[in-house]
Amino acid sequence: NKFIPQKAAGTRSVDEITGSRRLRRMRKAAWSRRLVQENHLTVDDLIWPVFLVEGANIREPIAAMPGVFRLSIDVAVREVEHAAKLGIPAIATFPNVDLSLRDVTGSQILNPDNLTNRATRAIKQAVPEIGIITDSALDPFTSHGHDGILRDGIIVNDETVDQVAAGAVLQAAAGADIIAPSDMMDGRIGAIRSALDANGFQDVAIMSYATKFDSAFYGPYRDAIGTAGLLQGDKKTYYISAANCAEALREAEQDIVEGADMIMVKPGLPYLDIIRQLKDTFALPTFAYQVSGEYSMIRAASANGWIDGERAMMESLLAFKRSGADGILTYFAPAVAEMLKG
Ligand code: PBG
Repeated sequence: NKFIPQKAAGTRSVDEITGSRRLRRMRKAAWSRRLVQENHLTVDDLIWPVFLVEGANIREPIAAMPGVFRLSIDVAVREVEHAAKLGIPAIATFPNVDLSLRDVTGSQILNPDNLTNRATRAIKQAVPEIGIITDSALDPFTSHGHDGILRDGIIVNDETVDQVAAGAVLQAAAGADIIAPSDMMDGRIGAIRSALDANGFQDVAIMSYATKFDSAFYGPYRDAIGTAGLLQGDKKTYYISAANCAEALREAEQDIVEGADMIMVKPGLPYLDIIRQLKDTFALPTFAYQVSGEYSMIRAASANGWIDGERAMMESLLAFKRSGADGILTYFAPAVAEMLKG
């Protein structure tokens, strides 16, 4: 009878095979699945990256990042207030600076009243309970889209580091709680630490973008901060190759020696192995950046009805927890916080 499942002659029974161990027992009901759940995502794990733009009352859509907006400072203050009410512990700001202010050395980072620093002051005053993380890289301020000073086709390391550290001091003075350099120059962590300490900012922490890989997944971000059309060449002389793991460990170790309080892996999902290794090796607070391309892929597939966007979002974030991450920078932060609340 074709409706009766068949068994080939000689097949051992499942009990013989597993010794009556059955892993499905604990999956049989929602209550037991809850009981044995190993990792949990909570609102405490979330850092919300916020894009800034000049002006007032602006909430400008970013084409490559559906659901993400560039916010003028007044709107950012309101939305960060809301994020704080949802329980999100910290934000990370990224400015889209007027093209006329960008130059070869990214000199706007030395303006105490640049977009980033004004936003920090406004947010700090209105929402003192939320942590503010500022990126001290030069790329939002350079006319060529690089994270460093470009001279004769070369990204000059040491002068970039001086500039980044001086900019970091201004960010701290504006009220930043954590400085997060994303530029991958050699020696920047030590330079920033000494500059902060020398200027009375011993309590300002450093979250190092310790292992930042040369990645196609940053594409939509470059649209968001307006560097997409500017970038000359690529960033291969300062970001880590996607092929390298030992090098990533050495990068992280160096940043820790120089004084990083927390380290980050970026992008996130394609680099879970790195997160696990860094966490196990150094036991420092370790963060994942679910970058713009990762976000947009989930949004796009979901918009097309190819995947369940909400489930994919939660699953990807849980994967970071499983890999050992202490928290995640994610554009989904407000949406996730709402979901976790409801
Ligand atoms: C640059 C910077 C990048 C991101 C944050 N800071 C990428 C880049 O190198 O262009 C990427 C964030 C994202 O993709 O979400 N220092």
